[in-house]
Parts: sequence; structure tokens; C-alpha cells
Amino acid sequence: MREHVIREGSSVASTIAVGRSMTSELVRRAAARGYERVALLCQPRTRDLAERYSKAFAAEGFASSGYAVPDGEEAKQMSVVEEVYRHLNEHRFTRSDAIIGVGGGSLTDVAGFIAGTYLRGIDAMYVPTTLLGAVDAAIGGKTGVNVDGKNLVGLFKHPSQVVIDVNTLDALPEDRRRDGAAEALKTGFISDMSIVKDYEAFGIDVDLESIVNRSVAVKVDVVNDDFREEGRRAILNYGHTVGHGIESATGRTHGESVAIGVVAAGSASEAVLGFRGAPRQVDVLGRVGLPVSAPDADADEVRSFMSLDKKRGPEGLRMVLLRAFGQPEVVAVDDATVRAALASIGVE
Ligand SMILES: NC(=O)c1ccc[n+]([C@@H]2O[C@H](COP(=O)([O-])OP(=O)(O)OC[C@H]3O[C@@H](n4cnc5c(N)ncnc54)[C@H](O)[C@@H]3O)[C@@H](O)[C@H]2O)c1
Ligand SMILES: [Zn+2]
Repeated sequence: MREHVIREGSSVASTIAVGRSMTSELVRRAAARGYERVALLCQPRTRDLAERYSKAFAAEGFASSGYAVPDGEEAKQMSVVEEVYRHLNEHRFTRSDAIIGVGGGSLTDVAGFIAGTYLRGIDAMYVPTTLLGAVDAAIGGKTGVNVDGKNLVGLFKHPSQVVIDVNTLDALPEDRRRDGAAEALKTGFISDMSIVKDYEAFGIDVDLESIVNRSVAVKVDVVNDDFREEGRRAILNYGHTVGHGIESATGRTHGESVAIGVVAAGSASEAVLGFRGAPRQVDVLGRVGLPVSAPDADADEVRSFMSLDKKRGPEGLRMVLLRAFGQPEVVAVDDATVRAALASIGVE
């Protein structure tokens, strides 16, 4: 087992444990925090896992309650949030208790939002069950609910503990491992080429324990530098400006959209900063079976969703571009650059 630590000032904000067969570790960590009771929040595909955890908590004398929210983005709704508040209130959950989110990124996003607002904030723990959740959504303290736009409402709140069980990730269907590979590769492109080399060598069958540890290490390092996204944290959005546009316009998964967004960002990086790694990015994304273009997407629609991006600055669209692998920069881009980047992914 390996631990990663997110700090706020000199105190520990969040501890991330990566290992295998982590059920007793989860219970041990909750007990060490002194929680009296835990509310296990799950999504339909993680119900069995949450039940297993519930039994393990009961065996250690904890009271627990379970609540299943709808799958995927359907969970990230204010109506769902309100239902869970009522459930917590009916069961008299207090600030000595904690919410444990067991599921993919949509589940941990909403679990964190609920924990951050119920009684003005109680503790949360996450057990991310998708690769995307493990390397991205569960790390770094951003929570979100969809109101009109995706993640329009949310708050920064670190879970006290994140417990990643690699056995769960190994058992994921291939499309979920592929989605997560897009985010893991993104951390590779911006900071750790060993991640990229592993995917080049082994494709989707990489050793996930090692990938998760390295990818989490990149994210933790960036978040420790800049928790509230005023500067360096923006580099984690590599591939996301165009990616969010593709995701909203076409309904592709987040991981697929990010893969396509990375290709567009690579092309813009080549044009603006002389980046030479664009073909290598396309090759490795293709190697794991991720899409590298979206010819079906409507260019006007993608552009209008891109302009809604929260990372837009006063002087127009800002994109994360690479000067070289491991050298990301946030650059204001003009309309011609955006059009050319979109053309590189077949969106014109
Ligand atoms: N907070 C952040 O910093 C951050 C970062 C990236 C993404 N996100 C959010 O994360 C979400 C995307 O993450 P995701 O793809 O993990 O979302 P998700 O929770 O919707 O999971 C994707 C699918 O995988 C299924 N699933 C979950 N665990 C499973 C398991 N063990 N076995 C089989 N299937 C399983 C889910 O039921 C769902 O259908 C988006 O809502 C995005 O906005 C947040
Ligand atoms: Zn992402």
C-alpha cells in the first residue's frame, strides 16, 4: 500500500491510500478519524461493494446507513442532493459522522457536495471505483452538481480519506479502463512520461497499481501547489477546453472527450509553441483504443460550448498547451488557432 498526502498549509487535508483488498483498511481509517456512524452513498453498480463495506463496518461496531443515488450524471442533481439531506436528517447524522462515497466520479462529486453542505459541512471519505475517479475526480477536492451547465454549482472540499482498491479497478470493463486511461495519459503528457511509456508498451493492460500511484502523485503535487486553481492547477485541464466542448456537443464520455481534446491541444501546441510530440500523443491514445477525432461533431456547437468553459479569461479563450512533454503553459489563443485545432480533430 502507498499513501499520498494533500496538505493545506502545514496540516494534512486529505490522505490517499492505494492498495489491494482495502475493506479493512477503509474501516480502520474511519475508526481512526473517530467517526461515530457512516453513511455509505453508492450508485447502482457499486451497491454490492457498499453492502460489503457496510457489513465490515457493522462487524467493528459502527452504525451505518446506505443510500443509492441514480447512475452517472443523473446523480449530480440538486433534487438528488435534497433527497440525501433528508435521509441524513431522518437518521440524525451529525458532525461526528461521515459520508463515504463509493462509486465513480459522478458519485464522489455529489457525495462531496452533500458532505460539504449538510450541517455546513461534515467529513467525507471516498472509495473511487472507476479508474477516472481514482486518478482524477476523487483527488483534489473539487465537488460539483449540474444546474443548466455541468458542474455549475460546487465547492472545494477535500475528503478526509481516499481509499483506492486496485482490485476493483482491475475488474472494470474495458471501456471504463479506457476512459480512465485518457486522464492518466494526460498527467503523463504534462508531467510524467513514464506513464505514457507504459501505455505505449502494454496498451490498456498496463499495471494499474503503478499507473494510479504515478498519476495520483502528479495530481497531488499540482494541487498541493495551488488548491484553489489560481495558477498552476490549470495545467490539469490539458485537453479539457476542447474536450468539454466535445463532451457537451456529442455526449461522448468524459475520457473519450478528453482524448480528443488532447489531440486538438497537441495540434495547437505544435502551431503556437513548436511542440513536436503531437503524433506520439495520437499514437498512444489510439493504442489504448481511445478516439482521436470527432468528425460527427458540429463545429459551431463545440465552439459555443467551449466559450462557456469556466477557464475562460478576460482576454478570450485560454488553453493549456505544451512546449514539450512535461512543459505545459497556459496560453491565450485566438480564433484562428481554435479553428485549426478543431480541424485537426475533424471538427470544421
Ligand atoms: N471533481 C473533479 O475534480 C472531477 C475530475 C474529473 C471528472 N469529474 C467528474 O467525474 C465524472 C466522470 O467520472 P466517471 O466516469 O468515473 O463517472 P461515473 O461515476 O458516472 O462512472 C461511469 C460509469 O461507470 C460505472 N461504474 C462505477 N464503478 C463501477 C465498477 N466498479 N464496475 C463497473 N462499473 C462501474 C458507473 O455506474 C457509471 O455508469 C463526471 O461527472 C465528471 O464531471 C470530476
Ligand atoms: Zn477530466
